[in-house]
Amino acid sequence: MEKLSLHRPIFIIGFMGSGKTTLGKKLSRLANVPFIDLDQRIVEISGMPISDYFELHGESSFRDLEEKTLKSISPDTSAFISTGGGAPCFSDNIDWMNRHGLTVYLDLDAKVILSRLIASDRSTRPLLSNMDDKQLLSYIQDKLAERSSFYKKAKVRINPMKLSPKNILELLVTETQSM
Ligand code: S3P
Repeated sequence: MEKLSLHRPIFIIGFMGSGKTTLGKKLSRLANVPFIDLDQRIVEISGMPISDYFELHGESSFRDLEEKTLKSISPDTSAFISTGGGAPCFSDNIDWMNRHGLTVYLDLDAKVILSRLIASDRSTRPLLSNMDDKQLLSYIQDKLAERSSFYKKAKVRINPMKLSPKNILELLVTETQSM
């Protein structure tokens, strides 16, 4: 495909395990535009894995660094950007993303998220590393309830299991054209 000109960043938001990075990479390949993983940027800036950062500096310091890293992205960046699950839920980050780009919420229910997280390597996610599978479901339900008012501020809300990456891309391109 010819390189798509988005003119704006497209921020992919949603709970841990909702597939933000996987989808972002697919969309960026399809559209031939860059992909940025916000967590990966934080790892590069801090020089350590996120779990080490949490352990060494605590969550509040991580949220400051997350906000700074997010807001260092220029509004004219043409890229898909996957954000950490908490990124839209702290400070004014979701409003900032809505002002500067297009936000897409990957909306999955707690049970689907649970099965995905069980299948993933939880040690890389500091908020989940000490939890067994039973605790995990109630944690996801509680956190989703707490975070959903932020997630729902996204301009576009999709269930990524019901649409192909190609259909999602078409939808997003249409949305960016009307911005
Ligand atoms: C977090 C999600 C993680 C990472 C950090 C905190 C959260 O990103 O930013 O561990 O608060 O939900 P993923 O959503 O990519 O796992």
